[in-house]
Amino acid sequence: MLAACYPERRYSGNWAVFKIVSATTGNITSPGAVNSGKPRFSITVRGLRLGTGLILFVYVITHLANHALGLISLEAMEAGREYFLLAWRNPVGSVLLIGSLLLHMMLALDAVYRRRRLKMSIGEALQLILGFAAPLLLVSHILGTRAAVQLYETNDTYAYVLLAIWVDDPTHGIRQTAATVIIWIHACIGIYYWLRLKTWFARSLAWLYGLALLVPVLGLLGFVNGGRAVGQLVADDPGLRLDIAIDTNAPTAAQAAELGLLEDRIFIFLGALLVGTLIARAFRLYTERRRGVLRITYPAGRTIETVPGSSVLETSMLYDVPHASVCGGRGRCSTCRVRVNGDLELLPEASEDERKVLRRVKAAPDVRLACQLRPTADISVTPLLPANANPRDGFAKTASTQGQEQEIAILFADIRGFTTLSEQKLPYDVVFILNRYFRSMGEAIEGAGGRVDKFIGDGIMALFGVDQNAEQGCATALKAARVMAQRLDELNDLLKADLPSPLRIGIGIHVGPAIVGEMGYARATSITAIGDTVNTASRLEAKTKEFGAQLIISQRVAELGGIENPPWPSEDTEVRGRREPMRIYILDDARQLPEQSTTRRRAETATT
Ligand code: FES
Repeated sequence: MLAACYPERRYSGNWAVFKIVSATTGNITSPGAVNSGKPRFSITVRGLRLGTGLILFVYVITHLANHALGLISLEAMEAGREYFLLAWRNPVGSVLLIGSLLLHMMLALDAVYRRRRLKMSIGEALQLILGFAAPLLLVSHILGTRAAVQLYETNDTYAYVLLAIWVDDPTHGIRQTAATVIIWIHACIGIYYWLRLKTWFARSLAWLYGLALLVPVLGLLGFVNGGRAVGQLVADDPGLRLDIAIDTNAPTAAQAAELGLLEDRIFIFLGALLVGTLIARAFRLYTERRRGVLRITYPAGRTIETVPGSSVLETSMLYDVPHASVCGGRGRCSTCRVRVNGDLELLPEASEDERKVLRRVKAAPDVRLACQLRPTADISVTPLLPANANPRDGFAKTASTQGQEQEIAILFADIRGFTTLSEQKLPYDVVFILNRYFRSMGEAIEGAGGRVDKFIGDGIMALFGVDQNAEQGCATALKAARVMAQRLDELNDLLKADLPSPLRIGIGIHVGPAIVGEMGYARATSITAIGDTVNTASRLEAKTKEFGAQLIISQRVAELGGIENPPWPSEDTEVRGRREPMRIYILDDARQLPEQSTTRRRAETATT
């Protein structure tokens, strides 16, 4: 499970063709026959890396589980090994295992070759270093077991292996233990990067953490126990050593020397691969720089020159521009997303993977993932999330949370004469009545499809149409007002013994453009709206006192809400802050709003 890095390429195809799609260039090369049909399957480099990593991870878990049987006895280890071999030493298991190992290593080298900066987070660096250290530590073990089996028909039983690496060469045993720990940590980091973006991850952290500790600890304890058992056996019966060597067809001294030679060559080969990759990478960067530069402009006018082919995120990291990247540039978390200012036509097309993530967060058309966007011309971007964004910030964000002007309906409601009521009641009773009231009204608003924005004293502000449109917003706001009036009746009935007189409310609804976005600080952050429309809705609510009405709506609310020829009294009234008089409809009782109308149909569409 070698390290994951920035560039994402995509392999896709159908039964007849295997297309390699480069996210860097967007070009498609078809090594096989050309097939114009729609790909039936699609594999990304990310998917390959994850898939091969998971296969290796399962192998390691089963290997450690086999070791853990050493806590019972050496015989239990040997018996467990039969099942282990059944799973992994058949043609399918072997191809899966060896193929995954080689592919995972090649993908890691490929990632190193493609990344433009070697600066990375501690977690990524640790994963990368451990990933490259693991094969070096494992080579001799693989040669002593799998290669010896293939070349000399050795039977690599636990007795044979433990005698070799625990009793005869403890340093080898220590190296193996270190390799196990290294591989396990490497795998856990990879799994963590993958799973931490899942919504259930935080809830499952305790047992995942427990498993991450338990599996290697039990495996290593079993290994130690098995080793001690073999040590004891050969100490009690020195002749057993020869029996084990004969029974398992252990490599002779000459064969061991051959394996040693092979080990040296593999070390040289792996080292050459790594050095070759780094040299190729340096050469690539050099030639790219010679091809020219393009400019990325960030907020506050900061402009950075970068080489074509670099992602926006890579450029940010390289030049210390604060930029969120929870998944480390793997194109999963969406926290790196940026708004692109200017001509979107100049941008390379987003890959299907990128589009999927953008769809998930309902991003606007001018939003792209900085880790996937590799501009080919000068570009201006605005990162949309703070640099310290966390995994949660990557989920379920609508465009509105990022701050935008949109047309929404706003409802204000207030209890009439509540000050007098509160003076007559004990604080406990006031809180009780208010909470019952808020619950009833909140349920009415949310049931209609609105969003309670805030409770202000005994007042309520609610937003409608934030995730829909103004028409649906008006329809749902009108529906909410009618249900609120009904709920108020029910509440008055319920509290009649506690209330000197029934509660009365005034409701004002207006629709118009407002700035909607997530505002506030720390936990006191929520989606809210500001602007003239909000003030107007509040003033309409205040006017219900003046007109002795329960509900006042603006003409536009009636129009967009689908109420044709409203039958209620209307007025052209002055509203503070507005230059023109405004036409309003005055309803003594919000239950006068039609139930069977376009309003209802629109509201139902909005809430389904
Ligand atoms: S850094 Fe996670 S999607 Fe770009």
